[in-house]
Amino acid sequence: MFRVLVSDKIDELGLAPLLTNDQIEVVQKNVAEVDDLDSYDAILVRSATKVTAEVIEKMPRLKIIGRAGVGVDNIDLAAATAKGINVVNAPWGNIVSTAEHTFAMMMALVRSIPQAHNSLKNHEWKRSSFLGTELKGKTLGLIGFGRVGTELAKRAVAFEMNVLAYSRSITPERAEKYGAKAATFEDILRESDIISVHTGLTEQTRGLLNAESLAKTKKGVLIINCARGGIVDEKALQELLASGHVAGAALDVYSQEPPTDFSLIDMDNVIVTPHIAASTKEAQLNVAVMVAEEVLNFAQGKPVQNSVNFP
Ligand code: MLT
Repeated sequence: MFRVLVSDKIDELGLAPLLTNDQIEVVQKNVAEVDDLDSYDAILVRSATKVTAEVIEKMPRLKIIGRAGVGVDNIDLAAATAKGINVVNAPWGNIVSTAEHTFAMMMALVRSIPQAHNSLKNHEWKRSSFLGTELKGKTLGLIGFGRVGTELAKRAVAFEMNVLAYSRSITPERAEKYGAKAATFEDILRESDIISVHTGLTEQTRGLLNAESLAKTKKGVLIINCARGGIVDEKALQELLASGHVAGAALDVYSQEPPTDFSLIDMDNVIVTPHIAASTKEAQLNVAVMVAEEVLNFAQGKPVQNSVNFP
């Protein structure tokens, strides 16, 4: 029997191929509450469970780790790879939801929708306090032009924005395909009215938008991070929001989740959501299906498609 531990809440419909296979036993329980960790061949997680080197050490039978989502920063990849454990993710399942949420945050930011909503809910009628700006004609700088960045570009172009795209491998042709213009990191900083990050969190991207780079942005710039906490240096952002250089920020992700320091979140010109960009019915079903299929293929000795640590 191939035993699969499902440690986070993963869509049951998506898990059906595993749940209905009589060669596979699925246990849905948080890793911290499991006594017989040494009896599992696979573990499936979202982002809440941290698959640390310590967890991996306690699972000597483990052969595959499935991440129902994109980011694998909650998995100790080096420890998994050293033990020959395959780590697979679901890179396509939630990109539209993430792009749509980012777009919603951008619109909410330029029209102060959360602030206006709270004001009216407090029985105030302050129309003149909420003077917004249009997106049309504004420059959106995308840092990271992969699956989510390109989806965002398509939507921004439909709103008649100018889109600048930067990634390490950007080419003019790739940018043009999505209606964007290829740019350098410096161009993005200098020319954008709104900057949105769409990279993974790696040692190269940690603190990419920090005091030094943010100081090069236009006065009044808006910053959006619906990718990963830590790409934008929160202390630097807070200081520039306080000084007025950055006019506003929209955040879905935080360097610590759940956050314990609320000083940035509490600022009036910061709008926030609790890491829900990928939380739609469609996305959660998609990622569950993708990762369950990968684990099923693996259990049956077939190749997997989305390994992040093995060719
Ligand atoms: C992802 O990496 O797929 C998203 O941030 C959603 C999640 O963490 O589950």
